[in-house]
Formats: sequence, structure tokens, C-alpha cells
Amino acid sequence: MELQPHPVIPKKKPVLVCILDGWGENDIKDEYNACHVAKTPTMDKLRDQGSKYYRSVLAHGKAVGLPTNDDMGNSEVGHNALGAGKIIAQGASLVDISLEKGTMFTDPGWNYIKPAFASNTLHLITLLSNGGVHSRYDQLLGVMKGAVKDGCKRMRLHILTDGRDVPDGTCHEYLATLQKDLDDFTKAGCDAKVGSGGGRMSVTMDRYEADWGMVERGYNAHILGEAEHTFTDAATALKTLKTADVSDQYIPAFVIIDEAGAPVGAVQDGDAVVCCNFRADRVVEISKALEYENFDSFNRKRFPKMLYAGMMQYDGDLHLPTNYLVPPPLIERTSGEYFAKNGLRTFACSETQKFGHVTFFWNGNRSGYFDEALETFVQIPSDNCQFNEKPLMKAREITAAGKEAMISGKYDVVRVNYANPDMVGHTGDLAATIAACEECDACLKELLDLVDELGGVFLVTADHGNADDMVQRSKKKECLKDADGKPLPLTSHTLAPVPVAIGGPGLPASVELRDDLPEAGLANITGTYINLMGYLAPDEMEPSLVKW
Ligand code: 3PG
Ligand code: CO
Repeated sequence: MELQPHPVIPKKKPVLVCILDGWGENDIKDEYNACHVAKTPTMDKLRDQGSKYYRSVLAHGKAVGLPTNDDMGNSEVGHNALGAGKIIAQGASLVDISLEKGTMFTDPGWNYIKPAFASNTLHLITLLSNGGVHSRYDQLLGVMKGAVKDGCKRMRLHILTDGRDVPDGTCHEYLATLQKDLDDFTKAGCDAKVGSGGGRMSVTMDRYEADWGMVERGYNAHILGEAEHTFTDAATALKTLKTADVSDQYIPAFVIIDEAGAPVGAVQDGDAVVCCNFRADRVVEISKALEYENFDSFNRKRFPKMLYAGMMQYDGDLHLPTNYLVPPPLIERTSGEYFAKNGLRTFACSETQKFGHVTFFWNGNRSGYFDEALETFVQIPSDNCQFNEKPLMKAREITAAGKEAMISGKYDVVRVNYANPDMVGHTGDLAATIAACEECDACLKELLDLVDELGGVFLVTADHGNADDMVQRSKKKECLKDADGKPLPLTSHTLAPVPVAIGGPGLPASVELRDDLPEAGLANITGTYINLMGYLAPDEMEPSLVKW
């Protein structure tokens, strides 16, 4: 894994790699494109340099290992590609293949949970939507059908409503679809019901330990059958809890009870529990709570002897969970590993909400270090709030940390991720997202000014679109409106490509972006920053975007 020195580009410090999370280069440049409407003199200046130093690359669909080109990009696949320089068949694709070939139902993970089917209960915890970012309904249905076919007599669904990767308000439709399938299973001899639920940003799906309270609420509802809100059916639960000012993402935890008031889905010794999300970040914590004997992040009160499996193994370093239905993508020989093996020093920083994106995802879903002596990972604590309330987030603090790292001269590459365009974009609040983009742009200026001062080199990019389109659209791309004429917000990512800008005084005059590779994607960026650091990119990576 030895990196060869670049024949033209000298080893320069600092090399800044900056990711504007959720900043797409969308063709539709109207009042609902927050990146376009926002005052962004820094990004404008980069764009104005023209195609020798600025272009866009694909960040969605097959270019990042997703099943189809209708799949929007997301941070997991985006940061995986940016870190590894390869297009890897991702979780969503691997689950599809496993279901299609039927290997899911013969693999060790299935054999591990199967003993519960005949006389215990199978519990399925799932983000209930077709977002394709963390889960998909057709895959959940595949798991349910497989279980019923293999003799499952009792099934309980623990549903997490979405409204983030799919439009707000769709939770009712997804539940109706699920309910119909559960009724069919019940008719066919498997007693199938919703046991508990809640919004994905209220219960269970916390990430990077931002708020263990969310996971505790999820554990209480799904496993213990305890929540403040109880209902005798799930449709009434959603109708009651999803009020005008509560989005699907934030529906509070609820439990379904029988006529006697007992929870219908509390987990008992001998039950099997499967987390049906394929994406790791937001299910690592619940997996720890369901798997670890020794666990002190909250008081579980009761810890049934359950057979727990994930849709995938979520953390390759921790081997968590031990049992899983589909083997995860193998993401090896990433840039981080190359750097560590070549004695190069890395600095990576973001705030909590994106911290694992620039470390865990970047390093191929590994929570550890390749070589701790060479890698510094700095996490700035995020606020716990709905981020349209605080759209500036921690961009200033991230900037300060990035600048300090560059000034120190200790690092061969300084990597920072600004969470704002994505995290605020997910709230669907256009004004706040514009503010988020402006803050991000102002902070980027500070970093680029310092690169200038220090004679360094930079690469600015993003992992997928989000802030670049804040409304739902018709096929003709017109903004859809509700009955009162208000635009229907888009909370999800987009299919837009993302910008790539290079520059800095350390960049030799002959170096510029290639004008071929029109189909280049995020994986092509890895070789690009390796070049900018003064090395030839390994052959196993997608081609670099620069010529010299
Ligand atoms: C989330 O988990 O917040 C969204 O589903 C996807 O957002 P991300 O891919 O930008 O993290
Ligand atoms: Co996002």
C-alpha cells in the first residue's frame, strides 16, 4: 500500500478537504433552491473560476453503489465513496440481492433467529418508509414473508415514522400499506400486529451518541412495552399524535395495548428481534442496547434473553451486532488506511450529527483508527434541537478547529464537514436553510483565506444534495402547493450532483480539472485529493479528476 510521489504536484501543507453536507448543484435555480438563493460569495467565486477549477460530480444512484439511479444520495454512501475512492455495492443493493437470491433465508443470521418462529415472537424494528436511505418497505415485506413461510406464528412490528427521507405526512399511507399486509399474514395464521412506534427523531434512531434519551424511549416502547401514549391500534396512534405542528419525524413514542391494557408487543425471553434498517449510523446505539450484556448508557430495567440480529452488521470494528441477515459491504483499503500505512497525518472534524460521517463512514464503516498516533478526530458537540431553530449550528466552532489544525502544520490533510445545509434542509424550513447555506459559505471563506495565507491547497465538495431543493415538485418540476397555496416542503435529499472546486496557492499552474469523465462521481474525488497531497492515486481507485 505504498503511495508513490506525484511527478508534478509537490507535497504541500496544508491540504484542506471540505465537505458541505447536503449542498447540491441543482439545475433548478429558483426561489426554492436554498444554495442558489443564499448569498454565497465564496462558492460563487469558486464557480466563477470556470471548469478548470470547478465542476460537479454525481452523488446519487449507481455512481455511489445504490440500486438504481432513482435513489437519491445520502451521507453513508457519499462519505463511503469519498473516503474509499471506489464504487461499492451498498447496503440497499446487498439486501436486494440477498432477497432476490433467497440467501437471506439460508444464511447464518436467519438460522439464528428462526428457533423463535414456532413458539415465540418475531419483533421487527424498522424505519417505515420507502426512503431507501435507511430502509425500504419492499425489503421489510420480504423479511416478513420469509418469516411467515418459515413458520413464524407471531410477529410484532415496531415502527419508526419517517417524514425525513420521504415527505412529511406520509406516515399514514405507509402504515395503511403495512396494516394490510399484517392483516393478510394474520389471516394466513401468523398473528401480526404493530407493537409500538414513534418518530425517527424522537425514538430509537439517534446517532453518534447525540442523545441516548431517544434510544431509551425506543427501548422502553419496543422492548418493555412502556410509553406515555398508549392506543389500541396504530392508525389511531398516528392520527392522534401527528398533530399540525408535529412532523412524522417527531411523533412521540407510543405503545399498542390490548383491551386489558397490556402491551401487545413487549419482548419476552426467547423472542427474536431484528432491526430491519440496513444503514448503520442510526441503529448502532439501539443495537448496543439490545445486544450488550454490560450496558450503562441508560437503565434497561429489564433485559430479556432475546435473539437479536441486524439487517446488516453495522460496525465492522465492534462486530456489532454479532448476528445479521445480510453481510455488509466490504470497504477496504480506504484512503485513511493508505495514509496511515504511509505515515501521513490526518485531521478530521465535524459536529456530533456528522462526526461519524467524516470518520466512521469515511473509513469504511469502522469506528476505530487505522493508526491512532497519526489520526486526530475532533467532535464538536451538536445542539439537541430541531435545527431550523439554530441553523448556524456549530459551523464557527468547526471552522476554528479546522484553522487550528492547518496552522499547527501537523497534518498532511485536514478534513472538515459542515452539517448545516443537510441538517437544516431536513427540517423543510426554507428560510432557515438559506441562513444555513450563508453561514456555511462564510465559514468556508475563513478556511480558504487561511489556505491562501499558508500557501496550501484545497478541495471543496459535498456528499449529496438537499438544500438545493426545498419543495416537492410535479413531473414538470413545478412547486406543489397545499390547499392554502403554501409550498409543500421537501425534507429529503435530492438527486442533484455536487460541486467540486480545487485551488490554493500551492497548486502548480499546470494542474487543472480534466475535461473528460462526464459521469464521474464522488469516488473520483478520493484520487483527486490524494494527488493534491502530492501522491499518485492507487490504481484500485476511480480516476482522479485532475490532469497536470
Ligand atoms: C438522516 O439519517 O438524517 C437522513 O435519513 C439522511 O441524512 P444523511 O444521509 O445526510 O445523514
Ligand atoms: Co441528510
